[in-house]
Amino acid sequence: MFDRIQPAPPDPILGLTDAYRADPRPCKVNLGVGVFMDETGTTPILDAVRKAEHLLAATEKTKSYLPISGDPATMRLVGELVFGGDFAPLREGRIAAAQALGGTGALRLGFALARQLRPGATVWLPAPTWGNHGAILRDVGLAQDTYPWYDPASRSVADAPLLDALSAVPPTDIVLLHACCHNPTGADPDPALWQQIAAIAETRGWLPFFDFAYQGFGQNPVDDRAGLLTVLSRVPEALVATSFSKNMGLYSERAGSLQLLARTPDDAQAALTHVRRIARVLYSNPPRHGAAIAGTILADTELRALWLHELAAMQRRIAGNRTLLADGLAARNPDRDFTYIVRQNGMFSYSGLTEAQVAWLRAERAIYMVKGGRINVAGLLPATLPYVCDSITESLRLFP
Ligand code: LMR
Repeated sequence: MFDRIQPAPPDPILGLTDAYRADPRPCKVNLGVGVFMDETGTTPILDAVRKAEHLLAATEKTKSYLPISGDPATMRLVGELVFGGDFAPLREGRIAAAQALGGTGALRLGFALARQLRPGATVWLPAPTWGNHGAILRDVGLAQDTYPWYDPASRSVADAPLLDALSAVPPTDIVLLHACCHNPTGADPDPALWQQIAAIAETRGWLPFFDFAYQGFGQNPVDDRAGLLTVLSRVPEALVATSFSKNMGLYSERAGSLQLLARTPDDAQAALTHVRRIARVLYSNPPRHGAAIAGTILADTELRALWLHELAAMQRRIAGNRTLLADGLAARNPDRDFTYIVRQNGMFSYSGLTEAQVAWLRAERAIYMVKGGRINVAGLLPATLPYVCDSITESLRLFP
């Protein structure tokens, strides 16, 4: 079976981390994978997480299997965080949830559910989008297409083409939307545009599928869900993939959820049975630890307050890095405009660097970023920022 087979290509994002680790150059900088770093370059374990783990170590009574869709009490708390406890469909029982293996696992479950219940549907992805969206869809066997998201000229959301494209999506199709902190561009709709998207979703009848991996990294957990709620208030059905990888720093614990909104509580529960069946044959039932940490934090007033405080600090550091990067580049390139870096949201800046510039930065300066010029702003450190700004400036000069 393995005789002289060709190796699979490296993953466009996680493969960069492998290449970075193998790079012996001491000046190397990893601005690839979306992982938060503090000023020393460490991806910290939050204090709230450590305290929750201590609590769990002292009180947890079993490692027996969780239900296939996760612990119901934890899932309730997650739903309240994602939508707000007073969101009418949540109170009415029209939202059901399954624990998932991070945001990727939630997307996989949601796409597999769509493949089963709507096998002829096309999933419309924003162009550009996170590379794994298309890869998961190919694996699941659902058709995919794209709609315009980003206007390189204004470096913001391509409002008019986006609305035109969404108005033409057939009612039986699915539209993937990033709820906030669009990956890779950092360009999010304003409230008026979310209203327009919601109106189209309502009148056209296509199913919105939200990727909500960055709740709290845009502004805060409440403001970051505003666009999602705008749409969900006007449609009968939707899917939402959520993750604690970023906002609780639980990357390797693989804690997330798939939330599904249905017309009635019975429909929601019936749909959840299909999600359970899909999960059962993929991995049987979810891992306990990461979700238990999240549930412990969300259930405890003090831990929750501590977590929100730490989340706000992460958000502030990323926003501060945006300003430092924009100012550093502007000082070296007075004829160019870098204010777009500050306008973008979340972890990433879509730098506009070309393939040649990105390749040169990696080859000559050991600075790793994703093809397409996506920079993980959360990976910039006081110690590396001047080197990164100098190097980007040099790449702009060499490859105009
Ligand atoms: C990213 O886009 O860098 C993150 O979502 C991590 C990943 O799994 O790709």
